[in-house]
Amino acid sequence: MTYEHTFALKGNLVYAAVPGKLTTRYNAYLVCAGNQVAGIYDALPEPWAEIPVTDYQDRLIIPGLVDLHTHAPQFAFRGIGMDMELLKWLETYPFREEARYKDFIYANQAYDRFVAALTMSGTARAVIFATIHSPATLHLMEMLSETGLQAYVGKVSMDRNCPVPLREKTKAALEDAEQWLRQSTDRFPGIRPILTPRFVPSCSEKLMAGLGALSAAYDVPVQSHLSENRAEVHWVEELHPGRSYAGVYDQFGLLGNPKPCIMAHCVYCTEEELELMKNNGVFVAHCPQSNTNLASGIAPVRRMLRKGLRIGLGTDVAGGSSLSMFRAMSDAIQVSKLRRALLEEDEAFLTIPEVFYMATKGGGAFWGKAGSFEPGYAFDALVLDDTDLGFKGGLDLEQRLERIIYLSDDRNIRAKYVAGQRLF
Ligand code: GUN
Ligand code: FE
Repeated sequence: MTYEHTFALKGNLVYAAVPGKLTTRYNAYLVCAGNQVAGIYDALPEPWAEIPVTDYQDRLIIPGLVDLHTHAPQFAFRGIGMDMELLKWLETYPFREEARYKDFIYANQAYDRFVAALTMSGTARAVIFATIHSPATLHLMEMLSETGLQAYVGKVSMDRNCPVPLREKTKAALEDAEQWLRQSTDRFPGIRPILTPRFVPSCSEKLMAGLGALSAAYDVPVQSHLSENRAEVHWVEELHPGRSYAGVYDQFGLLGNPKPCIMAHCVYCTEEELELMKNNGVFVAHCPQSNTNLASGIAPVRRMLRKGLRIGLGTDVAGGSSLSMFRAMSDAIQVSKLRRALLEEDEAFLTIPEVFYMATKGGGAFWGKAGSFEPGYAFDALVLDDTDLGFKGGLDLEQRLERIIYLSDDRNIRAKYVAGQRLF
């Protein structure tokens, strides 16, 4: 497998360079040089006249999708157990399942299924929670690296308010996190570590402060959950009186300042919290399917967009039941319509170009230049065949993309390229 090669794909290109606006190019050449997009051309110019071309004819070619928040160990029970709200659900399903990943053989088998499904999906880049177990987490990183996907993976840290098998001792939790950082940094091509305090209720102040210090010392980003569910938010108020939920992360150097961070959900953030997050450059991972399944609520995405927050989409398996980023896009639109109908009549719902931007360049910005076909961006591309979705006559590329977002599944993905490498 080589990264240093030059080739072109030919087809109908659709991408979003700016929020809320699609760029379309019919029958164009998308040139990859090294592992980056070199340009888009109607005819190949001189330096590239002889490069290999794969002609995908009438198919659509879009940037690889970016899943900003998902849980690898929860893939095993996706699609079941959505009969509870967050706190009871955590005790009943995720914690019980995650305790099993102490057993390396079990973890290996379960992660194998997750990695295979992620590889066949539309996701080119993902930001992933593992469990507290370093050996299984390192193995997950190795398996992901072998696929050619790009990912951030977090060994979870937690030392309070969780069952004994998953409750780390604070000192050991910090030593383990540091050792895992040393073992995983620059070891698995395409895969990087991300510090992962599970959420405020399951992390002591000492643990959060220690992880904040590690983030600064090792120059490693942070991911966590923020303001997902009303009972959870009240619990954080009791645990940390006088501070906002986002303020607690900020207090311990875990809210994107100085290192980037991703906060999943952000359903109940106050204006002050959104302001703080904006100033700290926080990435919000909006997870509409999970927020629906766990009856958590509907995140105020329109308000966040107006504030200029950075937003990507997440599947949050297994709060979310589907690993598909196409579903994440259609779900984001649908819940935004319910929010408008039920709560905010004067807020517009989300559009296809807006959610497409979030699922590509919006989330891709966590890597720097990813999620677009502009020159210099990582060469991530999906080739989509919509032949079986219905009659195409008279439809333009925007309409064909819309139908793919609502109707497609993995079988419509004909080829997938990540950082210049073809995965299938
Ligand atoms: N908050 C803390 N842990 C979790 C988790 O595993 N899933 C979701 N959806 N929310 C969480
Ligand atoms: Fe989550």
